[in-house]
Amino acid sequence: MATTEAVGRISEAGEPGELGYRSFRVGEFSFTRDEYFVYLHWPTGRHVASADAFLRALQRDVAWDFFYGIVNFDQVFGTMNHYGTVDVFAGRFNEAYRRAELDHMETLETPAIRAIFTEMLSDWTNEGFDPFASPEETGSAFGPKHGDNDAAVTRRRVLAKRMVSVPGDEELRTDDNGHPVNRMFADVAQDEPELHPEPGFEDRICGFNLFAYLSRSPVTWNPSVVAVCKDSLYCPTTEEYILPIIHGNDRVEWFVQLSDEITWEVEDRDSGAKRAKVIMRAGDVAAMPADIRHQGYSPKRSMLLVWENASPEIPALLRAGKLSNAPVAF
Ligand SMILES: [Fe+2]
Repeated sequence: MATTEAVGRISEAGEPGELGYRSFRVGEFSFTRDEYFVYLHWPTGRHVASADAFLRALQRDVAWDFFYGIVNFDQVFGTMNHYGTVDVFAGRFNEAYRRAELDHMETLETPAIRAIFTEMLSDWTNEGFDPFASPEETGSAFGPKHGDNDAAVTRRRVLAKRMVSVPGDEELRTDDNGHPVNRMFADVAQDEPELHPEPGFEDRICGFNLFAYLSRSPVTWNPSVVAVCKDSLYCPTTEEYILPIIHGNDRVEWFVQLSDEITWEVEDRDSGAKRAKVIMRAGDVAAMPADIRHQGYSPKRSMLLVWENASPEIPALLRAGKLSNAPVAF
């Protein structure tokens, strides 16, 4: 395997080229883009990706701060999070590249790779293209460089001051404050639950309609934490079109399909070999094992609840064989 492992590798941005885009360097990787494509070079290989798909993946990698485990942009390129350092790799989780010894990896401190990826995302995203939006709801990623969309690529999650619906929460769920119901959720009822608290508890017993809340989400494939109990995180999200990354798990993940339908392509995390196709319809629950990678296809905007165990111990316990890759043995 052709691997360079060195923490603190040089990363830098170059001058704008003929089409207005800057080039970038991360250790021995170089990144350039033209009107349609992104080009990656490393000492033993090269790769090309469509600019729109690359930017959608890059947007998640940056916004999720490299997420849990592996963010594969596609079958070749991606990042692996070690929570402090990040591996940037090509072909590392692709059996053919490994066999041909064309794979390559650079390890960087998280702030260094975060900074260069953030710059790349800003420079390569044109005015009118929002990598977080569904393709139907945004403009084109292509052409020579024109403007930017920093407002979209640096958007921050809307944060509730208190639990949603508790007095003092910011009433984020209305048309008035710029959160209209998405076109595909026009049929989602907007009524709120009826509450009958005992006298004296009126401001402490609260509830809200999660479906109505999610129907107003302006982004796709972007789980948000809505409930925390120790390491247990409930992360609902709305999905449309294709998950822009192939997520390589480093722990078991539970999926609860809240509405509509998603088809999941499930592959072996390390080789990319196909393992399963999982079709989830409203009400279905699945546990994605810790040794797979997966990509979802949602033909209509749908609601998905992702349930994560965020314990930092889990990857090491799995590596040591002290935990099973599957949460349930049948
Ligand atoms: Fe996952």
